[in-house]
Amino acid sequence: MTLALPRMEPLPPLDGQLPDCPVTIWNSENIDIAAEQRRYKEEGIPESLLEIVADSEINAQGLAYFEQNKEMIMNHLKQNGAVIFKNFDISKTPEGFRRVWETLDMAPCLDPIHNSGLRSFLSSRDGVYEEVNKKSLAKHYIGLHNESTFKKTATFGAFVCFSPASESGGEFFIADGAKIFRDLRTEVLESLYNKGVRISVSNLDLDFLGALGPLKEPAMNFFKGLIGSTVAPKFDMDLDMIYGADGKPQRLQAIEHRQSPINRHPETGKPVWFCNIHNHARYLRDKRPCSVPEVGMTDVYYGDLSHIPNEYVDHINEVSEKHIQNLAMQSGDVLLIDNYRMLHGRQTFAGDRLHAVSWFRKGDEAVTPQGKPGNLLNSAVNSLIK
Ligand SMILES: [Fe+2]
Repeated sequence: MTLALPRMEPLPPLDGQLPDCPVTIWNSENIDIAAEQRRYKEEGIPESLLEIVADSEINAQGLAYFEQNKEMIMNHLKQNGAVIFKNFDISKTPEGFRRVWETLDMAPCLDPIHNSGLRSFLSSRDGVYEEVNKKSLAKHYIGLHNESTFKKTATFGAFVCFSPASESGGEFFIADGAKIFRDLRTEVLESLYNKGVRISVSNLDLDFLGALGPLKEPAMNFFKGLIGSTVAPKFDMDLDMIYGADGKPQRLQAIEHRQSPINRHPETGKPVWFCNIHNHARYLRDKRPCSVPEVGMTDVYYGDLSHIPNEYVDHINEVSEKHIQNLAMQSGDVLLIDNYRMLHGRQTFAGDRLHAVSWFRKGDEAVTPQGKPGNLLNSAVNSLIK
């Protein structure tokens, strides 16, 4: 006798239906760093990641497994940070993956920088974006980051592997922002917290302007205005266009507003490391495999645009790497993260790789309808990194 699985109704397409990514919930005033670090050390931080491995019995239950265990799964995600499902059959296609998170009542939204046009869907009908699988970026290491800008932050992320890198590498990884906060040297945290940080997200080298003689100044202002009014708004990140922040006078950088590197978690109220410096610091990128074109290079400054000492960045790198958990995901493996708590990244790889991601809001907030992706420079950047 063969057991027929219940026939599933087709899902309605999500194309054009996803609400915008929610605004970032900042709660970063008056944090007593030394006291909070002490509190974490005294209380301890439980294991962030819950691993659930399906056997044939669990797989036979299909979506019913997720329905029955929804409360336990979502509670762990909200209290501890991450849940990984391994060896599940249902999540080997974009549609099956969507059925999993829909069963968990997760509310999808757009990527925080969707409107830049830099994010492409693997399946727009299922609200599933492709991860950075491009061959030209295979040798580019993606450091730890929250999927977040000063303005927008996804509440949760669900990452899925459809096929691991065919030759080697490409492991997805996570790290707990609470543990990084606990273990960073207090004076490093205090220095960054007191001065704030600013993240530069692109470099435009307009060296030809130097040859314009007396027209140089008006031409520099023209480009600053042009990029600031046409390209920057697409990123919807509150970017300032600034020349020369890294010492190159004709380099125009798009720099995010000053922000705190520490944020209180919106649910638990506990402070966590909420800073993308491990991914964005130029000092670290220059030491790692990096194949991003100059226009897409990033950097991190103090809030007054002064230089963060290399020794501090080395220390942040060391503590971040101590907490990195590499997850060798196989086809159908799904990882849920609380994006206010856990940072993520991926190792370099060789061969073909197909990983994807969906983003979520909390689910009970007011929503803004989907915007139109921009083009202009963004499509040019995309064509450079195909
Ligand atoms: Fe990411």
